[in-house]
Amino acid sequence: MSNESLANLLKEERRFAPPAGLAAEANVTAAAYEQAKADRLGFWAAQARRLSWDTEPTQTLDWSNPPFAKWFADGKLNVAYNCVDRHVENGLGDRVALHFEGEPGDTRSITYAELQREVSRAANALTELGVQAGDRVAIYLPMIPEAVIAMLACARIGAPHSVVFGGFSADALATRIKDADARVVITADGGYRRGKPSPLKPAVDEALGRPGTENVRSVLVVRRTGQEDVAWTEGRDVWWHDLVGRQSDQHTPQAFDAEHPLFILYTSGTTGKPKGILHTSGGYLTQTSYTHHAVFDLKPETDVFWCTADVGWVTGHSYIVYGPLSNGATEVLYEGTPDTPHQGRWWEIVQKYGVTILYTAPTAIRAAMKWGDDIPAGFDLSSLRILGSVGEPINPEAWVWYREHIGAGRTPVVDTWWQTETGSMMITPLPGVTETKPGSAQVPLPGIAATVVDDEGHEVPNGSGGYLVLTEPWPSMLRTIWGDDKRYIDTYWSRFQDRYFAGDGAKKDEDGDIWLLGRVDDVMLVSGHNISTTEVESALVSHPRVAEAAVVGATDPQTTQAICAFVILRGTAADAAGDEADEAGLVEELRAHVGKQLGPIAKPKRILPVAELPKTRSGKIMRRLLRDVAENRALGDVTTLTDSSVMDLIQAKLPAAS
Ligand code: WT7
Repeated sequence: MSNESLANLLKEERRFAPPAGLAAEANVTAAAYEQAKADRLGFWAAQARRLSWDTEPTQTLDWSNPPFAKWFADGKLNVAYNCVDRHVENGLGDRVALHFEGEPGDTRSITYAELQREVSRAANALTELGVQAGDRVAIYLPMIPEAVIAMLACARIGAPHSVVFGGFSADALATRIKDADARVVITADGGYRRGKPSPLKPAVDEALGRPGTENVRSVLVVRRTGQEDVAWTEGRDVWWHDLVGRQSDQHTPQAFDAEHPLFILYTSGTTGKPKGILHTSGGYLTQTSYTHHAVFDLKPETDVFWCTADVGWVTGHSYIVYGPLSNGATEVLYEGTPDTPHQGRWWEIVQKYGVTILYTAPTAIRAAMKWGDDIPAGFDLSSLRILGSVGEPINPEAWVWYREHIGAGRTPVVDTWWQTETGSMMITPLPGVTETKPGSAQVPLPGIAATVVDDEGHEVPNGSGGYLVLTEPWPSMLRTIWGDDKRYIDTYWSRFQDRYFAGDGAKKDEDGDIWLLGRVDDVMLVSGHNISTTEVESALVSHPRVAEAAVVGATDPQTTQAICAFVILRGTAADAAGDEADEAGLVEELRAHVGKQLGPIAKPKRILPVAELPKTRSGKIMRRLLRDVAENRALGDVTTLTDSSVMDLIQAKLPAAS
């Protein structure tokens, strides 16, 4: 990346102060930044004391062998006890932990006392299957209560879980089972997706036919959809309701070392085999618990929290399971898609349960924008008091729409930057403290040290761009890549000395606030200028006719790269057939609009209206494939796409491109 100018083009002047009432009652105030600055390790030691320890730690950080960190190393605790039992012991057994809403409309509310019994039964069942502390358990489930129960049962007996997203294929599942050498798989006959049962068990059967998965001795199967024809391997497969159902609901949790592995979660790199990100117990729980308390200002007696992520992603691990439950929260767990059976389903759920805090992703917000303002307007969303965003940079227009149409123009929006690797939130406003700026994650949390550096690793001045780095270890950091310490060092700790390289481009504005600009592979070089795909996309989305945009740099003989934009238009038929003359006029208008917003250098050379964009199952746009299209190449690997037919439609729009 050249030093010259990394995309410092977008000017966003809107500001939103915290509501006075919220600020006055906030769990965390500006003083936390001061405390953490004065004594960072003391600050984290204090946050660790929010948990219950069997042996209180006397050490905070051991960084004697960087980049391998140990946090609270001489402490011992049980993570599941912290998320369940201690609330029951504190007299909160009757509080609802989970309001489960199945896609077909079936519901189940589970109190902390019930959760304690369910987790105990499941822990006893895993023990009966021979699972011991340290054994890995793969979990491949839909978004049903058993997913949460299974994760907590593993944590309770010290068996690291490896949750594999239920939308992944048999191949992806097999790779992950093999890499972690899992001994048991927990799955279901299926789950409900887009109005119909979608089977899961066949993928497990297929995966277990692959070499390298022979060590799996048991498959525990939840009956969710009740399909009749579930293939069964006698001696290996066992129904959850049979085995778990007959266990005692009493189980004494054992304390484990703070550095005992809690889970492995795979993230797909752009190349190579997926990386098994390893998280451990005490530090991970300290930071997920603290950030959930601080960033969502959780008042567990009155709030109803809802994180719409899947438990198969880190967001679900940290902000459906470990963060909220460690804080004794009441939360919603929803199985299905946002538009089944109608496009107001989420808003109906907010109204039904009186959700006060909503945490979702920009892709979902942009989909809701596209479906129309009148849909959320048809529901009572007045219970909401804080809105969160995560997963990719949120375009200022989507941020403002979220606040206006979901938050009635009154709720703070917290844009939280973090990664599977960081385990918990790292850079985000605090709702009772920070004056927010649409599109910016703004400030590192108390106790977190982040900055932006140039190619040589020098911190950039305010107003400049570069690479996001984390300059001090943090409690919920990944400990390594499972089985591959060298890859851990190479991927994260080699680009800049003594600093964690996040892989994201970022800039600091004149106030020193941080703006995330997307993965560094997504920064374009146009006539010597570094321009971020995110900023051009935001400029496009700020035009009233554009619902979504994806921008890539295509190799260009004159300008090194040329900006090529794919846009979904608002208010046109789904096939985007449209009137061609109208389309040509609009494309010119959009180019001019971007030029006006960002400057002539950022004007896309080509703009292609399309019906859909290629997205991964976690909602991220796969720019790599769009680059293949823009450069007239054969498409690369499409197996992680939600819907690979999207690419056929896009290529059809592009007759032998110039
Ligand atoms: C990457 C991590 C964190 C849980 C979900 C994704 C991007 C994430 C933001 C944000 C800008 C963001 C980054 C990051 N990202 N949150 N608020 N603003 N970018 O976890 O799959 O590990 O992805 O997501 O590029 O590196 P993940």
